Order: sequence, then C-alpha cells, then structure tokens
Amino acid sequence: ASYRIAVLGATGAVGRRMVETLERRNFPIESLKLLASERSAGQTIAFRGEQLPVERATADSFEGIDIALFSAGATTSQIFAPEAVKRGAVVVDNSSAYRMDPNVPLVVPEVNPHTLDDHQGIIANPNCSTIQLMVALHALREFGLEHVTISTYQAVSGMGQKAVDALREEVAAWQATGTIASTIFPLASQDAHYPQAFNVLPQCDIFLDNGYTKEEMKLVNESRKILELPDLKVSPTAVRVPVLYGHAESVAVRFATPVTPDIARARFAQAENLVVVDEPSAAKYPHPQMAEGTGDTFVGRIRQDLADPHTLLFFVVADNLLKGAAWNAVQIAEELVKRA
Ligand code: A2P
Repeated sequence: ASYRIAVLGATGAVGRRMVETLERRNFPIESLKLLASERSAGQTIAFRGEQLPVERATADSFEGIDIALFSAGATTSQIFAPEAVKRGAVVVDNSSAYRMDPNVPLVVPEVNPHTLDDHQGIIANPNCSTIQLMVALHALREFGLEHVTISTYQAVSGMGQKAVDALREEVAAWQATGTIASTIFPLASQDAHYPQAFNVLPQCDIFLDNGYTKEEMKLVNESRKILELPDLKVSPTAVRVPVLYGHAESVAVRFATPVTPDIARARFAQAENLVVVDEPSAAKYPHPQMAEGTGDTFVGRIRQDLADPHTLLFFVVADNLLKGAAWNAVQIAEELVKRA
C-alpha cells in the first residue's frame, strides 16, 4: 500500500526535516501535499527530485489525506487537527496541543508503541527534550525509576527557523560591531530580551505560576504519561545554549535498587536507537555536533553518584529536530503503516 501524506508547517525547521526524513526512509507515498501559511504560497520544496509547491492550509486541504504530519504550532494544530480527522486523516501532531489529552497517545516508538493501538485519529509527538530522555530512561526501567533530576542544554532550533537565523546574526553582529541587540531570545513574545550568542539563558518558553517554565513542566508531565509512572518525581531545569542543532541533558536518576555504571552501560547498549559513547580516558562522550543530522540518541558520562549508590548520573544528546521532532513523527507514521 502507499499513502497520501500531508505535512502542515512544511516550510518550518521541523517541517522541512519531516519532508527530508520521508524521502530518506523511502516512505510508501502515493502523494505528498506541503502546507503552510499564506506567507509561503508560491514557494517550492524538493522531494524525490521534484520541486513540490507549498499550498496555504485550509480545512479542505486534508480531503483525501491518509496521514498528516503537523508541525505548525499548537494554535494551528487546534484549528486543523479536528478538520483533518473529520476528513478521515490520522494526524501525527508535533505541537503541545494534544499531548496531555487522555484520549491521545503520546508516543516514543522505542518506548510505548502499544499506545498506538487505540488512537482516535490524533497522535501526539512529545516535546523534543522529553523524547531523548525517554529513550534513555526506558533502558533502565527494570531498576525502578524513582526520581529524575535533569538540566537541559537546548539548541535554538527548538524555537524554530527564525531563532537559528537570529543566533547566526548575533554572532555576525558581535564580530562586526562588538555588540549584540537581541530581539527574540529567550522568547520573542516577551518584552525583555538578552543575547543568546556567547550566553546561556535559564528560560525555555514562558514561566508558569509555580515558577517553572512551560518546557520544564512538559518534561515532568510528558515523562509521567509516556512511562506510565504517574508518581515519578521529576526535578527539571531547562536552559537555552548558543547551539544551533542538538539538545544535551545532564541527568541524575535515583532507582529503587543500587545500579552500577557497568550494568547501566550494558542496558543502554542493548536499547534500540541508543548509542553509548562513554570512554572518558579517550575523551569520548556525546555532544550536540555528534548527534546533528542523525536519528539516534547518544548517552555517555555514565557515573554513580558519589553519595548515593541508588543514583546514576549521565549525559544524553540527540538532534532535537530529528529524534526530537521530525524523525520521531515519521517513526510513528511507520508504526501506523505496520499496523494498517
Ligand atoms: P510559514 O512559513 O508560511 O509561516 P518554525 O517552527 O520553523 O517557525 O515553522 C513554523 C511552520 O508553521 C512554518 O511552516 C509556518 O508556515 C507554519 N505555520 C505557522 N502558522 C501557520 C498557520 N496559521 N497556518 C499554516 N501554517 C502555519
């Protein structure tokens, strides 16, 4: 069988990689429709040697579509996902709009593919920082996950293509004039802006009433849902760093039983799509430029906590636009095809 696919947000940082990933995976496609806002009408995007036109998305765009991959923000998803489902499409949504909806599976294919069995037309792709954390934590489930303390080092591409362009411009401005006037970091919609070039900002997305950012609470709530551990303790700090592609995470996990680094390394090595890079004596460990362009998750710096044999420390890295978004979404689509 081959499928009629639509990509909503096809001109964006994630959408472009969705199109590239469909091509790279040789996904069974009968037709591919590229959708964005009216700003992009008239643009074309290459797919399998052809230049495909980008169309303005309307509800009727989803007529005759089997699978629609969405990455155009939560508001756009809320408008179009019900319309697409009404017209018979299955939506794989990369936005946060439906992730915590109890009727919507929140899927990392290496971790909880069984939840795809009873979807109701919308499937949610988790937050980028959550996905790579899940791939690593799933490998260590048997030891009893109790408490996850995590600090992230997140690439600007998680904020979209504009942020990638803005960081490059800040670096160029610094070289040309020695000053930086940031207009979009840490968040375009707020009044206060700080340089992101040569700087680290402990704010990803907006602050909530509890003093945590939305990104931090996604790590808490999405992890609990995906791992099916509603009481898992998660202590998150999400930080934006001047990296273009690839999120890194420093993770400390307390387990119900003591776990040695050797045992953890063996479990990580057996896990699907997880690559262990952990040879400190040869300076081998994961970093964002190692993950860039790949669909894998990388783990290293695996150590026991000095004070607590129940706690392991490690460092996890993945390409936030690929495993953290486009590739995870295409993997979900591949799982749907397997089940069809
Ligand atoms: P456009 O390029 O026409 O603005 P990014 O995350 O890199 O900023 O990309 C966001 C994607 O979502 C882009 O493809 C953008 O299209 C698309 N998008 C944003 N708002 C809408 C909308 N109202 N309708 C359709 N697509 C949208």
